[in-house]
Amino acid sequence: MKVLSHSHMKMPRMLSHVVTYAPEEPEHDTAIEDINKEAFGPGRFTRAAYRIREGGPHDRSLSFVATSGGHVVGSVRLTPILIGQTKAMLLGPLAVRPAWKKQGIGAALMRTSMEAARRANHKLVILVGDEPYYAPFGFRRIEGHQIVMPAPVEPSRFLACELVPHALKEVQGRVRHASVA
Ligand SMILES: CC(C)(COP(=O)(O)OP(=O)(O)OC[C@H]1O[C@@H](n2cnc3c(N)ncnc32)[C@H](O)[C@@H]1OP(=O)(O)O)[C@@H](O)C(=O)NCCC(=O)NCCS
Repeated sequence: MKVLSHSHMKMPRMLSHVVTYAPEEPEHDTAIEDINKEAFGPGRFTRAAYRIREGGPHDRSLSFVATSGGHVVGSVRLTPILIGQTKAMLLGPLAVRPAWKKQGIGAALMRTSMEAARRANHKLVILVGDEPYYAPFGFRRIEGHQIVMPAPVEPSRFLACELVPHALKEVQGRVRHASVA
């Protein structure tokens, strides 16, 4: 009897730490904007990736939130793009609330979105970010390709993941949102 009441008392505390992953919904937009503001600050609007995302919507079915106790604690988005005439996806922003960092939430969001992209038969995902963080998810520097971003990007931070072998081969051209001609 004592044991039962003890475990019962502990349950709400345990549940408050449970993190759930789900496809993004419009109701998450405000919280996601707050998280990205907190993670990237006002400078985020001038970044090359943001300029591409301005061109049209991200794909909500491949964008995921991490929630705990009904609150969004992390987010990752994937946006359809064209590189020249080649279809690809742009990953980002990826952000986790400071208090929730270093618990594997960023990695779980990465795995979930990349697996969803694979299932949706996408062939190539690019991003601008830290290679040491993204390398374990299959991202490598884009080197020796004539891929033009809409704003300058540090070459060491311009990364791609081929979801099918050689997807990056022969790809060249201007990167823009898939809805932009
Ligand atoms: C990057 C970010 C999404 C990682 O989220 P997270 O939930 O803390 O990530 P995980 O718990 O899955 O992984 C944390 C691990 O990645 C490492 N890591 C975090 N940022 C890193 C980076 N820029 N480069 C290399 N490793 C990094 C941590 O040191 C940690 O390693 P450890 O577990 O060996 O200590 C989060 O730190 C964040 O929101 N940062 C601010 C926004 C940002 O920079 N987003 C990425 C755009 S490039």
